[in-house]
Amino acid sequence: SNRKLLILPGDGIGPEVMGTVRKVIDWMDRRRAVSFDVDEDLVGGAAIDKHGAPVTDATVDKAMNCDAVLLGAVGGPKWDDLPFERKPERGLLRLRKDLGLYANLRPAICFDALVEASTLKPEIVAGLDIMIIRELTGGVYFGEPRGIETLPNGERRGVNTQVYTTSEIRRVAAVAFDLARKRSNRVCSVEKANVMESGVLWREEVTKLHGEQFSDVELSHMYADNCAMQLVRAPKQFDVIVTDNLFGDMLSDAAAMLTGSLGMLPSASLGDVDESGRRKSLYEPVHGSAPDIAGQGKANPLATLLSYAMSLRYTFDLPEDADLIEQAVNNVLAKGLRTPDIMASGMAAVSTATMTDALIQELDKM
Ligand code: NAI
Ligand code: MG
Repeated sequence: SNRKLLILPGDGIGPEVMGTVRKVIDWMDRRRAVSFDVDEDLVGGAAIDKHGAPVTDATVDKAMNCDAVLLGAVGGPKWDDLPFERKPERGLLRLRKDLGLYANLRPAICFDALVEASTLKPEIVAGLDIMIIRELTGGVYFGEPRGIETLPNGERRGVNTQVYTTSEIRRVAAVAFDLARKRSNRVCSVEKANVMESGVLWREEVTKLHGEQFSDVELSHMYADNCAMQLVRAPKQFDVIVTDNLFGDMLSDAAAMLTGSLGMLPSASLGDVDESGRRKSLYEPVHGSAPDIAGQGKANPLATLLSYAMSLRYTFDLPEDADLIEQAVNNVLAKGLRTPDIMASGMAAVSTATMTDALIQELDKM
């Protein structure tokens, strides 16, 4: 097939949760006649053990030449004492950098079966499906000048600089508009143009790009502090939110917790469209390698499976298949199946393998 997927299971529970995705990929091949050209490789501690580096040039090369990368998680106590340059995390950082992934996507979806588990009132989260896009490679985390200096009067001063250029703003806004077209066609751009110059430029450039190329998408603007409030008060008013690195860091964490636990949260990072029309993309769960439960069959595979479903929707243009997977997830949860991390009182915990079998059974019914 021409759908090239590179799977990098990584460390800890990474290979366990990726096993679930593999079974769903087999199911799609068998029952939906949707096949992938799947390659698998090492990253993180697994790559260090085999090759002495957290990711090899050959693996980076594969990542550059596939349609999407699906990554499990990296890291663990075995590699904690290595110098920073050789740690498992460096493999992930290098992939993100070499692929030029500047847009971080964090959805907040409320599955019907988990409405009751939310800390918010059911009417506020039932049916929730929003997407936060955080600019990932610019802004105050990287801006120059930065540093800690001593002033003539002996005081010390810590300095960071919030900077955005037009191209940095336009490319992440383009991702937001593109994605909105595959969803409910609405984008809310979030900054603080009332007090920040970079916010003024952000609003101007998003508005300009919208007029030039995306006027079919509904665009609104909101100040970041108000957005934080609205996310908790009435999150369903949003479809796609696009914002800078700093605001996005906080708003995406807040939005994620409207609905889920760590074991349920998917994510994606996207970059530029290359000559062949592919947008560089890496899909991964938000959680880490969970060494405390690795190898015990306790891992929740849903965050990784939902990351794969995101790749079907946003890279492979298979929205119906993404829907099927999300529906199967909802159905197994509705049946009361829970891995220990999402277990409510009065429910029995199931293993990764039982959860996986139940998912396949649900898919078979559809
Ligand atoms: P973690 O996300 O691995 O685990 C935090 C807690 O949540 C643990 O108690 C774990 O058992 C639980 N948990 C996480 N995912 C789960 C799942 N799918 N099912 C059930 N329970 C789950 O974060 P932690 O403990 O801070 O880091 C552990 C290792 O993972 C470290 O080496 C860290 O550097 C690495 N890490 C890697 C990331 C990545 O690959 N993107 C992200 C975060 C951490
Ligand atoms: Mg954060």
